[in-house]
Amino acid sequence: MYRIGQEEKDAVARVIDSKELFKVNGGAQETYHFEEELKAYFHTDHTILMTSGKAALISALIGMGVGPGDEVIIPAYTYIATAIAVVAVGAIPIIAEIDDSLMIDPADVERKITERTKVILPVHMQGYPCNMDAITAIAKKHNLMVLEDACQAVGTSYHGKFVGTIGNAGAFSFNYFKIISAGEGGALLTNSRQIFEKALIHHDSSAIAYFGNQMEDFSVEPFCGTEYRANEITAAILREQLKKLDGIVHDLHKNKRLLCEAIGCKANLIPCNDPDGESAMVCTMRFETAEEALRFSEAVSGVTLPIKTGKHVYSNWDVIMGKRGAAHPLMDPFKMPANRVPDYSPDMCAASLERLAKCAHFSINPDWTEADIEKRAAEIRRGLEI
Ligand SMILES: Cc1ncc(COP(=O)(O)O)c(C=O)c1O
Repeated sequence: MYRIGQEEKDAVARVIDSKELFKVNGGAQETYHFEEELKAYFHTDHTILMTSGKAALISALIGMGVGPGDEVIIPAYTYIATAIAVVAVGAIPIIAEIDDSLMIDPADVERKITERTKVILPVHMQGYPCNMDAITAIAKKHNLMVLEDACQAVGTSYHGKFVGTIGNAGAFSFNYFKIISAGEGGALLTNSRQIFEKALIHHDSSAIAYFGNQMEDFSVEPFCGTEYRANEITAAILREQLKKLDGIVHDLHKNKRLLCEAIGCKANLIPCNDPDGESAMVCTMRFETAEEALRFSEAVSGVTLPIKTGKHVYSNWDVIMGKRGAAHPLMDPFKMPANRVPDYSPDMCAASLERLAKCAHFSINPDWTEADIEKRAAEIRRGLEI
């Protein structure tokens, strides 16, 4: 998906030549510059580059004050890291259904709210935006916070605003499956000073206390956090990647539109909460039955069934379903007296499983030529006719 080349090579060389690979030691300050550029691009007050998207989710939850006794509502369709991030802070993930858009179903979110709910965690899967108007309204009505998992949706927007910047905080991933990448990496975005301070301390508890003036004017006292600090090479690569994001999203949209036109009316796409805002990294089609979706996926190379994407479907989250929350029993949220342990079962979100089974998706390539698009369209048309 991502475009990588000479610009990134030069950026890495720049860091190596500087001999300053650690972000806090001065030097070229690639991390500092990347965070500033990310702020400017996404119009957000605070950003923190971290080692992964999951690190950003965990740090955001810490920043929101989530812990034992709290519940966080997540969708049935997301990578398992979303659920584990909730468990990592001592809280309990509550799994909600997805709707026809394959994103979290706001109606089911509202049904699953209890007196313990602290955060709604919508996940913008595969560059599609969630119904953020409905989610924000529910959060406001019940006085909850919203953490957007935008790990798969860097560059996606919803009604003119980038996802990851609509709720109280957002998380991006830059791992190797993503639209821009440094192999691994993640970022937290927030406009909340409180969330930022706690997340900054948590992601780098020792260095932040000992180096430089990072804690000047902090109102939060330091506490024992963990180590999710990114290095200067990651930051230098991402500075180049960010410059390419606009172009990639533009070309994905163009190629998806051309492909859908070439396929014709046979392409029954899933409804999207904002067709202009999605990143267009995939094309997801909906079929009348699971058998039809399966036949299509078997007939056309590169077509995947969402239901068969392993740890992206809640029923395959073995450690969550089995309530094995930590290596040490006293650290396990599923055994903590403060928590109420839910009845998880593989069929608890049956409607979501049915929806996922009736869909099939394939990637859009921003670098397709017109001939590539025509060839792909012919393959898809043939697959739909079987
Ligand atoms: C929806 C979602 N959330 C969280 C993550 C975690 O991101 P990372 O692998 O950077 O920790 C991923 C990773 O692919 C993801 O797809």
